[in-house]
Amino acid sequence: MTSNTIEVRPIAGAVGAELHNVDLAHDLSDATIAAIRASLGQWGVVFFRDQALSEANHIALAERFGKININRFFRAVDGWPQIAEVRKEPEQKTNIGGGWHTDHSYDQIPALGSLLYAREVPDYGGDTVFASMYAAYDALSDGLKRTLETLRAVHSSRHVFGKAAQRTESQDGRLGNPDAATQDAVHPVVIHHPETGRRALYVNPGFTTHFEGWTADESRGLLETLYRHAMRPEFSCRFNWRPGSLAFWDNRSTWHLAINDYHGQRRLMHRITVEGVALH
Ligand code: SIN
Repeated sequence: MTSNTIEVRPIAGAVGAELHNVDLAHDLSDATIAAIRASLGQWGVVFFRDQALSEANHIALAERFGKININRFFRAVDGWPQIAEVRKEPEQKTNIGGGWHTDHSYDQIPALGSLLYAREVPDYGGDTVFASMYAAYDALSDGLKRTLETLRAVHSSRHVFGKAAQRTESQDGRLGNPDAATQDAVHPVVIHHPETGRRALYVNPGFTTHFEGWTADESRGLLETLYRHAMRPEFSCRFNWRPGSLAFWDNRSTWHLAINDYHGQRRLMHRITVEGVALH
């Protein structure tokens, strides 16, 4: 199968496209990878259905896009340190990634993106929502864009993964290693995407703590305004998982949120995160 057969079907106006006629276990040709990369750049997140991927297939796919980041905080799949487990058991109430965020913005060099593969999904619920930070930026007024271009923001892992985090009982065992949560990073509030060159809003409710040179208190009002704006439904898409679905999202141009509406059922996903480059 070659990339000539790949069909791109957008699932929403601003973000998200399903790619069809791709067999990720058997075709990692240069043409296929280039087509996936192009769609990822355009749509921010790409989805694949009915993929039969072993752990080794999942890793081989991710490695075509960059070096794999070994997650410091998530439990790894047994025998596969490159693959982080995103699990919720029937008796657990909290899920992982249940608030809007973009992965690894607390790193000096944030991750390019993540490839999330569905191994077990609930009968209903457990969808993931994505939001386009290209669309959010584009829809701001010229005046606010000019102000944001002058600002940088601080991002941190401490309040989420560190000792100070409000870890609930049901998350025990899924997240760990709080001593490694020492990262703080400063990035521009508006980034120029390293591959597409497009401007994207780069603050997120999960990890951004304040604007550089401002107090957290002073930052709160403007951050909340930006978040409320970025959460507008027309900037988002919603993906319903089936076993064998894979989502590959770009952490620089999107946010995501895992909906926690399937208590009493298991959801088991395998996530691989790929390293990125410094953001400007
Ligand atoms: C994540 O935030 O990486 C997990 C997303 C999901 O489980 O849908």
